[in-house]
Amino acid sequence: MRKVGIIGVGKYLPARVLTNADLAKMVDTSDEWITTRTGIKERRLVAKNEATSDLAIKAAKAALEDAKLKPKDLDLIIVATITPDMQFPAVACILQNALSAKDAVCFDISAACAGFVYAVTIAQNFIATGAYNNALVVGAEVLSSITDWQDRNTCVLFGDGAGAAVLAPVNSGGILSSYLGNDGSKMDLLMLPGGGSRQPASHQTIDKRLHYIKMQGNELFKIAVMSMSEAAQRALKQAGLKCSDVDLVIPHQANVRILIAVAKKLGLPKDKIYLNIEKYGNMSSASTATALCEAVKEGRVKKGDIVLLDAFGAGLVWGACVIEW
Ligand code: ACO
Repeated sequence: MRKVGIIGVGKYLPARVLTNADLAKMVDTSDEWITTRTGIKERRLVAKNEATSDLAIKAAKAALEDAKLKPKDLDLIIVATITPDMQFPAVACILQNALSAKDAVCFDISAACAGFVYAVTIAQNFIATGAYNNALVVGAEVLSSITDWQDRNTCVLFGDGAGAAVLAPVNSGGILSSYLGNDGSKMDLLMLPGGGSRQPASHQTIDKRLHYIKMQGNELFKIAVMSMSEAAQRALKQAGLKCSDVDLVIPHQANVRILIAVAKKLGLPKDKIYLNIEKYGNMSSASTATALCEAVKEGRVKKGDIVLLDAFGAGLVWGACVIEW
């Protein structure tokens, strides 16, 4: 098996900012509640004419430039998203066309907030076996399109954005291990029930607001802490490392209190957990991807560092990757 590393990162956040103060004018909430319960201060929202692929294209171009590769060098594109431009075709196909990456095999995956970790793991396996060489992995979401802006339980949490990474064979280091986990029996805790084959779009599904995220937040909170901690420990064990070997955890950003609890369970100080939730909220698959890009660009990740990607989301899904940078 070949060693596989991340050789470039990129991101794109739409320009429009929605602050907690703005939200307090829309629903019965406050900056104080949102900040103390979630750690979020503001989030980005797309412009009226922007869709998920528009964000994905900009993040992908930045990652390719960072990797010093051209679109024609790509032979695999995976987009992790739960908010594709449309039911089909896949965002990855739209991206292939926009980039003119004619030789790339393209598909989307649906693993919600753990989508980026899942997509990185899939790409790593394809490259490790020699099936493909250069892969582009994107986490891109327009969660504002499935957010119920009348529901204070959910609308304060989500935002829009995209992050991307280029994976390729490397001589040393790279992705040391990954662990993925699921529990479909708890699918009811977080879902978008309307518009699929179970409840196709109709006047009734729209009247019942079934095309928006439905979430039982406090149940998920406990499972998120357990699952993210377990995923981290299992991936580290597989890599033959201990929690104390980790230089930086780059987690999915759902709630700062979840991440502090995970740090405590892993016995890590808070400053080893990378946070950008304050600026962007929860962007599902785009959160971990964007956080990785920002951590690298801010110099928080240096050559030889042990980096842990760790994520949890709807499905339920969770996963972690250990990377020697
Ligand atoms: N403003 C003011 N009050 C609010 C708000 C709000 N925006 N939202 C809820 N409340 C109220 C509730 O109505 C409730 O009031 P009550 O006690 O009178 O009934 C009270 O605040 C407490 O509500 P809880 O839901 O218990 O609040 P909690 O502390 O659990 O925080 C939150 C809620 C932020 C959603 C938290 O549970 C959480 O982060 N859960 C995890 C989410 C997650 O990890 N999701 C998976 C990833 S997302 C994905 O895959 C797309």
